[in-house]
Amino acid sequence: MSILSGKKILLGITAGIAAYKTASLVRLFIKLGAEVKVVMTPASKDFITPLTLSTLSKNPVHSTFYDKEDENELWNNHVDLGLWADYMVIAPATANTMSKMANGTCDNLLLATYLSSKCPVYFAPAMDLDMYIHPSTKETLNKLQSFGNTIIPATSGELASGLIGEGRMAEPEDIVSFIENDVLSKLPLKGKKVLLTAGPTYEAIDPVRFIGNHSSGKMGFAIAKAAANLGAEVFLISGPSHQQINHSFVKRIDVVSADEMYNAAHNYFKEVDIAILSAAVADYKPKNVASQKIKKKDASLDIQLEPTKDILASLGKIKENQFLVGFALETNNELQNAKSKLERKNLDAIVLNSLQDKGAGFATDTNKITIIDKDLNEKAFELKSKVEVAKDIMNEIVNKINA
Ligand code: CTP
Repeated sequence: MSILSGKKILLGITAGIAAYKTASLVRLFIKLGAEVKVVMTPASKDFITPLTLSTLSKNPVHSTFYDKEDENELWNNHVDLGLWADYMVIAPATANTMSKMANGTCDNLLLATYLSSKCPVYFAPAMDLDMYIHPSTKETLNKLQSFGNTIIPATSGELASGLIGEGRMAEPEDIVSFIENDVLSKLPLKGKKVLLTAGPTYEAIDPVRFIGNHSSGKMGFAIAKAAANLGAEVFLISGPSHQQINHSFVKRIDVVSADEMYNAAHNYFKEVDIAILSAAVADYKPKNVASQKIKKKDASLDIQLEPTKDILASLGKIKENQFLVGFALETNNELQNAKSKLERKNLDAIVLNSLQDKGAGFATDTNKITIIDKDLNEKAFELKSKVEVAKDIMNEIVNKINA
């Protein structure tokens, strides 16, 4: 899965011949799972039609603040567009537009949107070779980069003028790869490895029966995705769960029992930087597992149980530089219980959810958490979707490991 999947990309098109290539650029972004909106300078419409771009992007294309011909036309809000985007990409970026960007001129919708955007901005210059090497262009490029914009360098080749030299807009495939690599290299968990446990465990009674619990794995899987989206390589050790995950940074290791989860967690722990144990591990397992199906008898059936190994506590004992996070699902004395677990199991943080809170806990799509760090600072969060909660947890961890 591309790092741009699910991202909102605002493509700004200016009036260079390379504008015709933006049809491919839009398609490539869409193919990667990004959402694309297009703003154009009025003059760029001579090179490619808004109809082509709105069809490919499946979104309206704007080039003016409002359409003078249409009395019902709404004001195209550049501030909204700028705030909507996760990334703004200006391709092709002509000498004229770049110079205006460098000087804060905003005499069209694209420039006003650029000026009010808060997201990272990429720009792919395109012009003839003498224009590209002109000192004023060089100064403009430097100025734009000094503002924090990222240049996608022009390449050498045959130009529209027939001359050969530097100034060709990077090819759409290369623009996409450039942005993907740049985004990846700036992610806060790039180069870090994360171990996660998720879901329930099943403890066999006989070949057909087990002791399990209602954990769905939703919270753990959401955390795995959030960590991967921050650039981490994730080892997701999952008990039996119907959850699916499709992310090239996530390696899923399926286990069934607490013992298997224990072994898998210990296999990976030494090499990871962060371990988050969100699984609802069975605390007890049958002492003897019947090798044949247990037959029904009239008398009652007693199954003797013995404790499973506490995976989290065992990692807390051997931890070196790993940032170790546990979960506590409590029904009463929540904060006190969570804090005592944090200390007992030698954790760096614990995520508390209380079954007293509506919408928190197993099998729901929402959760309400409090994160407690090892100095016993508490941070309570609102009721949110598990996807949002996962992002909060990962952001807190990133803040803590960078503190
Ligand atoms: N955990 C674990 N291995 C176990 C049991 C629990 O790794 N065998 C982890 C869970 O994944 C969770 C944390 O420990 O991160 C808290 O689990 P919990 O069962 O609530 O804690 P216990 O110490 O077992 O306390 P109690 O059941 O008495 O509340």
